[in-house]
Amino acid sequence: DAGQAEKGNYPHFMLKEIFEQPETIENAIRGRIDHEMGTAILNGMNLSPRELALINRIVIAGCGSSMHAGMLGEYYFEDIAGISTSVEQAAEFRYRNPIIEPNTLVIPISQSGETADTIAAVREATAKGAVVTALCNVVGSTIARESGRGVYLHAGPEISVASTKAFSSQVVVLLLFALLLGRNRRLSRSEGNELADQIEQIPELIRSVLLQAPEIKKIAERYADKEDFFYIGRGCLYPTALEGALKLKEISYIHAEGYHAAELKHGPISLLDERHPVLALANDIPGKDKIIGNIQECRARKAPVVAVITRGDSAVRSMTQDVIEVPPCSRFIAPLPTTVALQLFAYYVAVARGCEVDQPRNLAKSVTVE
Ligand code: G6P
Repeated sequence: DAGQAEKGNYPHFMLKEIFEQPETIENAIRGRIDHEMGTAILNGMNLSPRELALINRIVIAGCGSSMHAGMLGEYYFEDIAGISTSVEQAAEFRYRNPIIEPNTLVIPISQSGETADTIAAVREATAKGAVVTALCNVVGSTIARESGRGVYLHAGPEISVASTKAFSSQVVVLLLFALLLGRNRRLSRSEGNELADQIEQIPELIRSVLLQAPEIKKIAERYADKEDFFYIGRGCLYPTALEGALKLKEISYIHAEGYHAAELKHGPISLLDERHPVLALANDIPGKDKIIGNIQECRARKAPVVAVITRGDSAVRSMTQDVIEVPPCSRFIAPLPTTVALQLFAYYVAVARGCEVDQPRNLAKSVTVE
């Protein structure tokens, strides 16, 4: 609607869209949780209980941030629902001849619903007889129409080229879908309700990160003159690291690479020195002890470390001067508040460098050519 397409008091659409996330996520959740049954209701999926039960493989396709959301979907569908899942870069989908069987569910993810490679993936999947259910933000877009079924994000118009609120809503809808499929399979009603409760807390977790914008800004300003960055994470925070690095390079033109923390030793560590800061996702979730080891390796090579930590975690705080706190939450939920912190970090770095935040050079909101 027109109101949402105005910047209001914000200097950039990106900042406005970052701050809208508690509400846009509430919109993505509204009416979609059934506490009676401890499950999610996603009517647009239009899958009968029989179809749901038959799904034995999920293939997700998307580009850019939408692909990163899909990578989180892989963790969610496998860990929560026990369904084998793979993520395809949409551009590879039709050329790689992926295996699509009658009970494979293909989920294209696209904010705009107009990305050429993702449209091509939908057509390829449909031709191969897959059940296709799309996650789109733009109502009536090509992917939404051609998929025939799917779930809308209800994030409102996203104007800034770099995706923020659409990404977080994609992740939330994937969590809801994993809850639905999980309840269809191995989750008890109380386990379902536990996850549903966690999902409902996401807007509040994000509000608490947004309150720290002034502190994140200060850290960002200290790093704004750097030219290279590594972002590292494990588990669900691995795709989160990729998304954080993508935000930074998109809008600040700083070379930033997202890496699985364990891969540091397989190459990037050779680059580390005082000119190569590392943004380490050290939230208090399984794998934290290993990330602490990685931070020590970085510090030993004099690489400055910005650590995202769980509020009050004094152990990690003592290892580096720059920490960004996020509220405590489970490993499945952690990507959401963490991503919002990384969006703010990228935003304030780009502003400090005088970049065109909403319209970065060479980038398009929607890539409609192959
Ligand atoms: C472009 C945008 C990104 C977006 C990607 C996929 O590269 O700049 O922000 O993530 O396209 O777009 P989609 O509309 O398919 O999600």
